[in-house]
Amino acid sequence: MLLDYNSSIIEKGIKEFLWAKENMSIIDKIINKYKNKKTLEGYSIGICLHITKETAVLVMGLKELGANIFLCPANPLSIQEHIVSFLKYKEIIVYGEKGEPLQTFCKNMDRILEKKPNMIIDDGGEFHKMALRKNYNIFGGTEETTSGINRLKAWYQKKLFKYPIIGVNQSRTKYIFDNRYGTGQSSIEGILRTSGILLAGKRVIVCGYGHVGRGIASCAKGLGAKVTVTEIDPIHALEAFMDGFEVKPISDTTTIGDLYITCTGQVRVVREEHIEKMKNGVILCNAGHFDVEIDTNYLNKIDKNPTLIRKNFKCFIINKKKIYLLSEGRVINLVGGDGNPPEIMAFSFANQLLSLIYLSKNYEKLENKIYNVPKKIENESGRLALHSFNIHIDTITKEQANYFYS
Ligand SMILES: NC(=O)c1ccc[n+]([C@@H]2O[C@H](COP(=O)([O-])OP(=O)(O)OC[C@H]3O[C@@H](n4cnc5c(N)ncnc54)[C@H](O)[C@@H]3O)[C@@H](O)[C@H]2O)c1
Repeated sequence: MLLDYNSSIIEKGIKEFLWAKENMSIIDKIINKYKNKKTLEGYSIGICLHITKETAVLVMGLKELGANIFLCPANPLSIQEHIVSFLKYKEIIVYGEKGEPLQTFCKNMDRILEKKPNMIIDDGGEFHKMALRKNYNIFGGTEETTSGINRLKAWYQKKLFKYPIIGVNQSRTKYIFDNRYGTGQSSIEGILRTSGILLAGKRVIVCGYGHVGRGIASCAKGLGAKVTVTEIDPIHALEAFMDGFEVKPISDTTTIGDLYITCTGQVRVVREEHIEKMKNGVILCNAGHFDVEIDTNYLNKIDKNPTLIRKNFKCFIINKKKIYLLSEGRVINLVGGDGNPPEIMAFSFANQLLSLIYLSKNYEKLENKIYNVPKKIENESGRLALHSFNIHIDTITKEQANYFYS
């Protein structure tokens, strides 16, 4: 089949898709369970996710279940172009191009909504924001990430909801693994691929010790870095301290930090007052969903002509010091690297897939609010994940159950 199609970029996409699929056996198991019934036949699904090889596995799985798919990227810089080519070759409708300006980027979501999808998958809340503004007759949706969930909670308070949304990020089989182990590893990988620096001996400042921060701090430590954590939550700060990390306010780190990694979901965490005191040669990058955690406006205002050292690696001169910025302050693991490993995305996308199937069967009974992933789905994806690693566990005995509930 590869030889029939004379394009090396599609061939690259096919090979990477197959490699990801091989490492996402959980998704295959779910598809095999539901495909004969064509569970999603007649549904059209609008998807706004980072377009990676793992996303292609989810998309092709949904197609096998009978759904009609429209896809656009959750970030203009995270698109893997060979994967887009592969998906188009497989007749999936994809709107969006790498590096496109914000206006066209938003237009992609509009174009999907005009197709009147019944269900939507979003990563970051931007797609839901657009869908909630108008009445598109959407039955339900899902949300992939922490920042998206935070925004949705605010919109729910403002009574803006028009359909039920399942917060996939809230599933234990998502946030413990994707945010922590997946993003922890892939963010460090993105930093190393982009800058090529040595981590051992460096002072790494991790801003935010939530799920993502825990993963990043532990991976950086594993590579020999000295890690300092900044936090605003006393419990998370205490946890970082007990995990063996130094904890300080960010303003106390500026003279020691070699590398800053933000993962708070907050705005302007690294800003002018910090940057101007930082060491010559400091590197700044972000693993949070939006490109707002590092004040890149300030960098661009002070140095309008930064040097592009190499792809995704810029040098600004601020107060006669070199300040490096990776991936324009956008998600380093997806812009500077390939995103999370397929084994991890299999957990997240098992939750997505099972949540969509659940929505297709139950949307009429659901209220217009945010739901957690039903426990049954969380447990099913956990069980499938364990089996994918060939791990088996004990079951509770009758005696233990009686004892527990007595
Ligand atoms: N790059 C990826 O692939 C990926 C994957 C998952 C999540 N995310 C994103 O990463 C971000 C963090 O996600 P999470 O699941 O770890 O969230 P979380 O809520 O578990 O953790 C965020 C942490 O940041 C802390 N924080 C908030 N403001 C701060 C500030 N000003 N200074 C220091 N700490 C501060 C919070 O107290 C919290 O402990 C979100 O934007 C999320 O959407 C990215």
